Amino acid sequence: MTTANQLVVHGFDDCHAAGRRLADRLGGAYRTVSVHRFPDGESLVRVEAEDPAPRALLYRSLHQPNDKLIEIVLAASALRDQGVDHITLVAPYLPYMRQDIAFNPGEAVSQRVIGPWLAAHFDRVIAVEPHLHRTRDLGAVFPDRAATALSGGPALGAALADDSRESGRVAPDTVILGPDIESTPLARSTAETAGLSHWGTATKNRHGDRDVTMTLPEGLELDGRPVVIVDDVISSGATVIACAQAALARGAASVEVLAVHALYQPESAAAFREAGIAGVRSADGVPHPSNAIHLDRILAGAVRAPSRA
Ligand code: R5P
Repeated sequence: MTTANQLVVHGFDDCHAAGRRLADRLGGAYRTVSVHRFPDGESLVRVEAEDPAPRALLYRSLHQPNDKLIEIVLAASALRDQGVDHITLVAPYLPYMRQDIAFNPGEAVSQRVIGPWLAAHFDRVIAVEPHLHRTRDLGAVFPDRAATALSGGPALGAALADDSRESGRVAPDTVILGPDIESTPLARSTAETAGLSHWGTATKNRHGDRDVTMTLPEGLELDGRPVVIVDDVISSGATVIACAQAALARGAASVEVLAVHALYQPESAAAFREAGIAGVRSADGVPHPSNAIHLDRILAGAVRAPSRA
């Protein structure tokens, strides 16, 4: 039985564990959105219709996004049909945000299409480290809707703080290293949350999908220190490999990686080990074998915070 103020989290089977964890953290109920895939590739989406609450959260991470985007919009429509009048989309990984201009004639500007389309179906959007480049504010992507872009730093930093408390594993001279200038807020916030004072960011040059070079900042002392590389996304893995190699060449005692969204093939773990990376831990927004960090605390904080369009 739900009450008028109770939040109900609706989640898909590709992310039940994290969706349930968020519902528990919010003291809400969790319900399953089921999807039947027809042989022609169309999706039949069904939400649990009993006893609807007026406010709902739809939880789904939108990596490998194309089918998922259609299915969340169908689920939102089904919820509205059940009388739900406010739907928050919690999409820890929010896709199609990086293409915010046409780099070449004829290219679609995906952010400008996907944002208003989702805004037509959801009242609020919450994401973690969306891949924004020139667009500073996620609110600009979702016209007349409340939109929250969370830093992953508090979750990554809390994992390091837990390590320290539970096993004394994080030495005070540990250096938090971001692989590019865009990772500056993530590196700063991770270090602050973990109570570490040494952090910095490298400069990355990308020459191809799997070809990057890394220049470490001059003044950052790594010799004999443990290094924790933090990044919003690991995709091919080229960025963290180049960053780890540069850190070890500079004398780092060890290198570990913490990532917000792990999109890499699990087979890449061997290449990470070869590059001297002792381990990779990722947050559980995108389900992945490297998941070891929960996002429910920061997501619940955002859900509870007042929102304004
Ligand atoms: C770049 O803008 C991102 O912050 C990541 O560094 C990048 O997406 C990682 O990609 P990859 O693992 O393919 O190097």
